[in-house]
Amino acid sequence: MDHRSGQTVASTAEIRSAFPALQRVCHGHHVAYFDGPGGTQVPRVVVEAMADYLVHHNANAHWAFPTSAETDAALWSARGAMAELLNAAADEIAFGPNMTTLTFHLARALGRRLGPGDAVVVTELDHHANIDPWRALERERDVNILQVRMIPETGELDWDDLIRCLADHRVRVLAIGAASNAIGTINDIPRAVAMAHEAGALTFVDAVHFTPHQLVDVREWDCDFLACSAYKFYGPHVGVLYGKREQIESLDVPKLEPAPESAPERLETGTQNHEGIVGAAAAVDYLASLAIGPGGAPARTRRQRLEVVYDEFHERGSALLRRLWDGLSMIGGVRLHGPPSGAPRTPTLACTIAGWASADASCQLAARGIFASHGNFYAMTVAKRLGAERDGLLRFGCACYTSEDEIDRVIDAVQAVVRAK
Ligand SMILES: Cc1ncc(COP(=O)(O)O)c(C=O)c1O
Repeated sequence: MDHRSGQTVASTAEIRSAFPALQRVCHGHHVAYFDGPGGTQVPRVVVEAMADYLVHHNANAHWAFPTSAETDAALWSARGAMAELLNAAADEIAFGPNMTTLTFHLARALGRRLGPGDAVVVTELDHHANIDPWRALERERDVNILQVRMIPETGELDWDDLIRCLADHRVRVLAIGAASNAIGTINDIPRAVAMAHEAGALTFVDAVHFTPHQLVDVREWDCDFLACSAYKFYGPHVGVLYGKREQIESLDVPKLEPAPESAPERLETGTQNHEGIVGAAAAVDYLASLAIGPGGAPARTRRQRLEVVYDEFHERGSALLRRLWDGLSMIGGVRLHGPPSGAPRTPTLACTIAGWASADASCQLAARGIFASHGNFYAMTVAKRLGAERDGLLRFGCACYTSEDEIDRVIDAVQAVVRAK
């Protein structure tokens, strides 16, 4: 049965009205935020949920008085929200400061099982948060790190090289990104996970750049661990780690003796960012609230509403990316990187402008009210393989609040930057 029939999604104009940051004016222009891959703006309801927690329920967890019990309930409810976003169970969701810290923590725990001769596979397409925590095991545990190549011309992963790496009979972990934060490439994660499991390896998926654009499904993907960050999908600065329950329970994780032993808390170190976690859940609720049923009735479950919303995000994002790709590709001196529009990718576009360091080009755009990131975005190997090590990449990330008008402003502004040389 198609539970999506009759569902619609709030318009971009309606979405924009929920984000107070879009009112900002810079050099006489309304700010167009294209820095979403670095961190998205936050809707008012998320800010209100965080303030409500701090004003009315603020306490440490696991005590007998009301604010502490309310905190326990809020954290549990947030695990539930995040579980629905990822299609997991609530006790498979742990929180932490950010994806990088959680990945160092997980790598250290998994590393306790590894020793000389064991191998971990990482990829050139990845953000270094999914490379360096594993590289640390080289030093600490004498583990081999194998790095799968990317194909610079297409921006894709070299799957033949992945097959070669997994053929190493001591591969114990495949650490792979679901989507490149630099150039938008989406990897076929179910395929990679199946290949890794076939080779006897566990899988860790970095879904930080994927989660704002497409709906994660850890059950379908069958990955063992996955991480994402709420500040990339309209929430505050909080990291999220999913692990299959049996994996969380069997990890030899660094922890304090009096801290809870049960899943998922055994993965969490110290007091958590409660207001941030509440905000992360509010971001999931906000996303789900964008689905409008026939006559205003919402779809049955939050996950179903998210499916409707993400389908629409995909349509809108693809159209925006196509408009941006086509517009920029007409401008001489602009080189676009990554998979072309229509390929499996997010609406995140990286380019270089002949004669311009990306930082200087970004300044020129900011003077026109366009906020676009520059550099390597910690996807340092990608920038290197694209020949942009010195000047960096200029990156435009579309978010749910990006309008066609803003895309046209980018195209005009880049044209002006090119002419200014
Ligand atoms: C693809 C990807 N992975 C990992 C990270 C690191 O995330 P965090 O800032 O939560 O540590 C980022 C941040 O930009 C990212 O884009």
